[in-house]
Amino acid sequence: MSSETQVSGSDSSGDRPGGRGVPPVHEIRVGVVGVGYWGSKQLRVMRATPGVTRVVAIDARLPLLSGMAHLLATGEGFTSLEAALPHVDAVVIATPPATHVPLGLAAIRAGKHVLIEKPLATTAAGAEELIQAAKEAGVTLMVGHTFEYNGAVWMLRELIQSRELGDLYYLDSSRLNLGLYQSDVNVVFDLAPHDISIANHVLGATPTSVQAWGARHIDPAFEDVAHLQLGYDDIGVQAHIHVSWLDPRKVRLITAVGSKKMAVYDDTNAEERIRVHDKAVRRGTEGGTGGGSGAMQYHHGPVTSPVVRFDEPLAVQARHFVDCLTTGAQPRTDGASGLAVVQVIEAAQLSLAQERKVLISEIAGDAGASGLVPVPGQRLRAPVTA
Ligand SMILES: NC(=O)c1ccc[n+]([C@@H]2O[C@H](COP(=O)([O-])OP(=O)(O)OC[C@H]3O[C@@H](n4cnc5c(N)ncnc54)[C@H](O)[C@@H]3O)[C@@H](O)[C@H]2O)c1
Repeated sequence: MSSETQVSGSDSSGDRPGGRGVPPVHEIRVGVVGVGYWGSKQLRVMRATPGVTRVVAIDARLPLLSGMAHLLATGEGFTSLEAALPHVDAVVIATPPATHVPLGLAAIRAGKHVLIEKPLATTAAGAEELIQAAKEAGVTLMVGHTFEYNGAVWMLRELIQSRELGDLYYLDSSRLNLGLYQSDVNVVFDLAPHDISIANHVLGATPTSVQAWGARHIDPAFEDVAHLQLGYDDIGVQAHIHVSWLDPRKVRLITAVGSKKMAVYDDTNAEERIRVHDKAVRRGTEGGTGGGSGAMQYHHGPVTSPVVRFDEPLAVQARHFVDCLTTGAQPRTDGASGLAVVQVIEAAQLSLAQERKVLISEIAGDAGASGLVPVPGQRLRAPVTA
């Protein structure tokens, strides 16, 4: 099996209809908005991406950021998107989630292609607004679902889609660490977009329902530990997602359990990111362990670790973005893929608030009016007082 999945765009029929709007560009000038923790990585990979001729840093705090202040004097840095727009063809938005929609709309309406970090928006309505605006302006809208550019995730998808694991029973995902606490969103907004986009990608489906449980231990306004249960009713699979800022270990683990084999993707194990366990349980016909009418038969085969060819996912993603701008192709993580993840996040917020299972069909375009999603400078929910 090969982990070398082609990162090619699909046709041009989505956010950027072929033949209309901004023509494909070949020498691309990129502005990275927000050069904090993640944006500084975006700046590095964009500078090394073929086809990109100029990269400017855009950050309100640029004069205060170490190693960045000198960019202002050389014209390679700006303190606002508005000032930078005349100097760029495309914009990467790596600011806090609540700013993605206003910044994205400003760039799109100025005719710029945009790559927006996950989550695309904090509401489904906001994500739909971005999709519509990109369609009207004829520009490319892509979302930074970085794990969909990761060789190990491609291999997990291949194991599932080729049915090497047999019938898939469930997916189980854990993304845990001590911190980093975010100041404007809870742990679901911060970490779960990764697991949701991975689940959607490897399953080739989107969920129909979400049940969430969460707790606020340190900051009384925001959940720091949460469990989500995603029902993919169309394919009869469930995905369980555990995200936490309050755990002693750094864990990045996804387990796919099938009727024939089980696969474990450990993103912290650079040597063996994917391990395939030839293990299974079958119900026999009589006696033995387990309940019901038959014995449980356990199969214990070898554990194999296929070679995963690993290229830095952020660099693969950047090359794909530039490819889409030069060819006019639709990004594999387009606006619709971003919207699908945001719908799950919004359903999870509703589930946390109302302590019930929420159907994705309940998350309509104007669901952001529920007041359960953050807006810039405003906390998600009032702190709980003792
Ligand atoms: N794809 C991934 O694996 C991944 C990993 C980490 C973070 N992220 C995403 O990247 C984004 C940024 O996260 P971070 O951890 O780097 O945050 P950060 O706080 O470290 O950096 C955000 C930066 O944005 C700047 N900023 C805020 N509003 C601005 C505005 N209106 N104009 C210009 N600059 C502005 C801030 O000054 C700050 O420097 C988030 O959406 C996050 O979810 C993605």
